[in-house]
Amino acid sequence: MSSPDKRTILITNALPYANGDLHLGHMVGFMQADLWARFQEMRGNDVIFVGGDDQHGTPIMLSAEKKGITTQELIDQVETNHQADLDEFSIGLDNFTGTHRDENKTISAALYTSLRERGHIDVKVIKQAFDEEKGMFLPDRYVKGTCPKCSSPDQYGDNCEVCGTTYDTTDLIDPYSVLSGKPPIEKESEHYFFKVSEFSEVLEKWRDSDALQPEIANKLNEWFEGGLIDWDISRDKPYWGFEIPDAPGKYFYVWLDAPVGYMASHKVLADRRGEDWEWHWRKESDTEIFHFIGKDIVRFHTLFWPALLHATDYKMPSAVFVHGFLTVDGAKMSKSRGTFIMARTYLKYLDPEYLRYYFAAKFSSSVVDLDLNLEDFVARVNSDLVGKVVNIASRCAGFINKRFDGRLAAQLHDPALHSTMVESVETIAQHYENREFSAAMRDIMKLADLANQYIDENKPWAMIKDEANLETVHSVCTSGLNAFRLLAGLLKPVLPQLAEKAEEFLNIDPIQWNDLSLSLLDHPINSFKPMMTRVDPEAIEAMITDSKADLETAQKEDDTSSKATGPLADDPISPEVNFDDFSKVDLRVAKIVKAEHVEGADKLLQLTLDIGGETRNVFAGIKSAYNPEDLEGRLTVMVANLAPRKMRFGLSEGMVLAAGPGGSDLFVLSPDDGAQPGMRVK
Ligand code: MSP
Ligand code: ZN
Repeated sequence: MSSPDKRTILITNALPYANGDLHLGHMVGFMQADLWARFQEMRGNDVIFVGGDDQHGTPIMLSAEKKGITTQELIDQVETNHQADLDEFSIGLDNFTGTHRDENKTISAALYTSLRERGHIDVKVIKQAFDEEKGMFLPDRYVKGTCPKCSSPDQYGDNCEVCGTTYDTTDLIDPYSVLSGKPPIEKESEHYFFKVSEFSEVLEKWRDSDALQPEIANKLNEWFEGGLIDWDISRDKPYWGFEIPDAPGKYFYVWLDAPVGYMASHKVLADRRGEDWEWHWRKESDTEIFHFIGKDIVRFHTLFWPALLHATDYKMPSAVFVHGFLTVDGAKMSKSRGTFIMARTYLKYLDPEYLRYYFAAKFSSSVVDLDLNLEDFVARVNSDLVGKVVNIASRCAGFINKRFDGRLAAQLHDPALHSTMVESVETIAQHYENREFSAAMRDIMKLADLANQYIDENKPWAMIKDEANLETVHSVCTSGLNAFRLLAGLLKPVLPQLAEKAEEFLNIDPIQWNDLSLSLLDHPINSFKPMMTRVDPEAIEAMITDSKADLETAQKEDDTSSKATGPLADDPISPEVNFDDFSKVDLRVAKIVKAEHVEGADKLLQLTLDIGGETRNVFAGIKSAYNPEDLEGRLTVMVANLAPRKMRFGLSEGMVLAAGPGGSDLFVLSPDDGAQPGMRVK
């Protein structure tokens, strides 16, 4: 049935790199996207859900080399494996193709050419570490050396993991290439830059639409304040990727053609269906485009990608939905503990729908990390799915099958139970719509409790002993199975396989959201087969044992193989500072003698601060929280010995301390009583 407000919704999840198999962390995004896609489809919207592998970049090239196979062989193998895992987890992608395809090459080249023709590309010479033996430029992670501060060996080129100092690669003592072990040289080369800074205004406007979660919009504010820098989109050969049109030996940086892969995968699908992919992406179309991603790749999806789309006359995403990272039993996934669980390993031991439900019960619309607690996982799945939902069917089915010829009664015994449940349907739909999946699961389980309570009160198994009650038992079980149908329908986006079994058992067409309020009466059903078994704790044990790589390699890999899990991985907690470092920060009470708007800056206020005989000019990103006139004459706390920083609007000589999540919740004022400008804050 088509209705005037039917939406066309294009959904993507981040494309996993093609240098290894999927682990449960990858499943977080795929499941969120899939739950949402399935919900939208059930609502009657047109949903296009496309994905694929991210098949370019140096690590993939080197990983194939190490395995002794061609890069093409590696990406083909990985693509097959990824696809099989995703299928088995019921990730309902309409198409899955990797980025190393002709479709992607053509679209990437076209986008680039359009950027260049419109003057958005700059060519600049930059200096970079070069491995003479390998004959290649080295990405930052491929240069190591001895820390200039604490002399720890084998530290990465940007910071020391032992003492926490950050420095430039050129500061490393005895630097060496991870690839050849030889010291790298500095070499110049031309790089191509996309002038993202030209799109600051458009991006700021986009940020103010509903496209971003609040914490992500705040992150963008910080990036805007720092000023957008142009984005280096080229890499020199040898590189595994697409060569840039008319720039021999230069390749697109993997992150240029990776998101274009969303378009290319869509094109492959549309070609197969004889449809046009491109108009969906045009500014004029009503198609809504949503990207699900993890928190570590926010910058690419909220600055570069929307700018690239806008610059080439495509629409910016309707929204980017960012999720947090997966931990297992409260800690980063670890090979030595056996909690770095590959999707395949999970599938060997456990039902994929257990995990879909467990994740759904934890997913929300915010960017928080989520924990797979294995004990809780067993308890939750057993009590909710097996104990509550499936149990309703098994408690009622036998009677209908055996005593009533497999036919439901013509009436519900308790229409009130049905209508009470139906009343929640729209609220639950809103939870799904807002990606508050955990709220949806909580409300659905409340309904399951109601239904179980109803059966407990009516006890068909006791009633049936008296023939006089036969009709009542029939209608009680009919009420029970109608409740089950409703629950299976409400859970269908999460548990498509369970829903299918329920549809088969109830002998009904695939449930759509709009039919949830109907009741199923005087209707033949099929015989009942168990739909889901309890989680076997031994299967969990076996999965953990299987996931324990041999300990020696495991510990080393733990440090590098799983992505970070901190607050925003794109903005991780900085390396620890010791007490001496901290005490170098000189905090002073400062009187705000003047506070003014800054022309052309929509976040900043310019403050003139008196720290007892000396005044400082400071730009502070607090305009969202304060009117300048409310600040004048008040006291705040500032970092008085921060090195002056040149900003677009002038020199900032220090920093005021602000607390709060941002927006209008920012606090910079210190209590006035007793404090004097210039007083040291201890
Ligand atoms: N190839 C890029 C994405 C390109 S999108 C145009 C990439 N690949 S990835 O394999 O490293 O990650 C794929 C997705 O999985 C990302 O959204 C990433 O955030 C997510 N996750 C990877 N490890 C994760 C966890 N441990 N937990 C949750 N999500 C994780 O980035
Ligand atoms: Zn160090």
